[in-house]
Amino acid sequence: MTIDLAALPHDFLWGTATSAYQIEGAVAEDGRSPSIWDTFSHTPGKTAGDDHGDVACDHYHRFREDIALMRHLGTNAYRLSIAWPRVIPGGDGPVNPKGLAFYDRLTDALLEAGITPSVTLYHWDLPQVLQDRGGWPERATAEHFAAYASVVAERLGDRVGHWATLNEPLCSAWIGHLEGTMAPGLTDLTAAVRASYHLLLGHGLAVQAVRAAAPDAQVGIVNNLSTIHPATDSPSDLRAARRMDGHTNRWWLDPVHGRGFPEDMREVYGVELPEEPGDLSVIAAPLDWLGLNYYFPQTVADDPTGPAPHARAVRRAGVPRTGMDWEIDASGIEELLLRLTREYGPRGLYVTENGSAFPDTVRPDGTVDDPERQDYLVRHLAACASAARKGAPLAGYFAWSLLDNFEWAYGYAKRFGLVHVDYRTQARTIKGTGHRYAEIVRGHRERGRRAA
Ligand code: IFM
Repeated sequence: MTIDLAALPHDFLWGTATSAYQIEGAVAEDGRSPSIWDTFSHTPGKTAGDDHGDVACDHYHRFREDIALMRHLGTNAYRLSIAWPRVIPGGDGPVNPKGLAFYDRLTDALLEAGITPSVTLYHWDLPQVLQDRGGWPERATAEHFAAYASVVAERLGDRVGHWATLNEPLCSAWIGHLEGTMAPGLTDLTAAVRASYHLLLGHGLAVQAVRAAAPDAQVGIVNNLSTIHPATDSPSDLRAARRMDGHTNRWWLDPVHGRGFPEDMREVYGVELPEEPGDLSVIAAPLDWLGLNYYFPQTVADDPTGPAPHARAVRRAGVPRTGMDWEIDASGIEELLLRLTREYGPRGLYVTENGSAFPDTVRPDGTVDDPERQDYLVRHLAACASAARKGAPLAGYFAWSLLDNFEWAYGYAKRFGLVHVDYRTQARTIKGTGHRYAEIVRGHRERGRRAA
């Protein structure tokens, strides 16, 4: 399979992505307070093997080694997230200078290595103290988030030009408050809908805060979207697919594009939104880019007695799957990039995450051979290039993930890295897919040089 590299702009960002709680470790160091993920992962039975992020990849201490790996891969961008509980351990109020200093060091080291930092302000690690005061279902959390965003942007805005407010608010709201398999682990539709509202309000307020502190910043939001197909063409399955599309895609996209919260989904949820005058225009603050995290498509059937949105995922037989048991379908990433372009007209698009987990082992010769992940990468990159060729304003691709890391409720059992991590020794080994990615990046760069 070939990737139409000529379809990608010469200044394309070739990146890798991670998030703070999944890699940093050092959870009690330099004044960091516990987040909801510390609490959740330390509650017996909530994660596979009762794994937690106490040490993770020890990136807090090894970030220079990890940046050297990025250089080895030849990537020119890196998507990281900031841990709110490091920067403002009380959730609101006093700033912890040591927490901010870590991100200062990290930013400077990336820039010295010629790697553009792309900073995500919230990747699920809400300070536990704010959860104790109600968390995202409460409006004050959105306001505290904006204050925290302002602190970070004031400190890093002179060097960081690329900002995302939230990562995958769908997971925070729906999985964290409705399905209960992510922190804070609630199963309460009202709390989930209120959380979704305040996450998007927090996003809009944070956009304002970042722009005020760093007027040239390129600001966006990162959503995990899926293509949704009905299991059959029965009217009830078609309606279920429409509801699942509302739940997964439109609920997160429409309000930030000035269309308000989708009416059909408001009816499905039947929960009053905690709206105040002016909120919708805050939520719809103009953005510079949209981030797409794409992993798998969904096929759904009607499920009238199941939880909102009353649609259940159907397992299709004979379809290849990753180690997460997620269906592999690269055409979905192209379809979504083109849908975003057509329906929402973004100024820029980034694939902010895409990748696959497979069980990897380091062979006696010290290499990690992962042909299935390589195949996944190449197919998805080819689909991205095809979308760019058809007009999607795609400006970058961030492979998930730089490192194997703490995969939330799945613990360390699932490995998404381009780089293998031995959690006993913290030894890093670039996998076959990492080497393949480096070749692709090099190929694109050489093509650009030849054209110049
Ligand atoms: O590991 C996660 C990441 O934190 C958010 N997006 C999906 C990834 C794989 O599950």
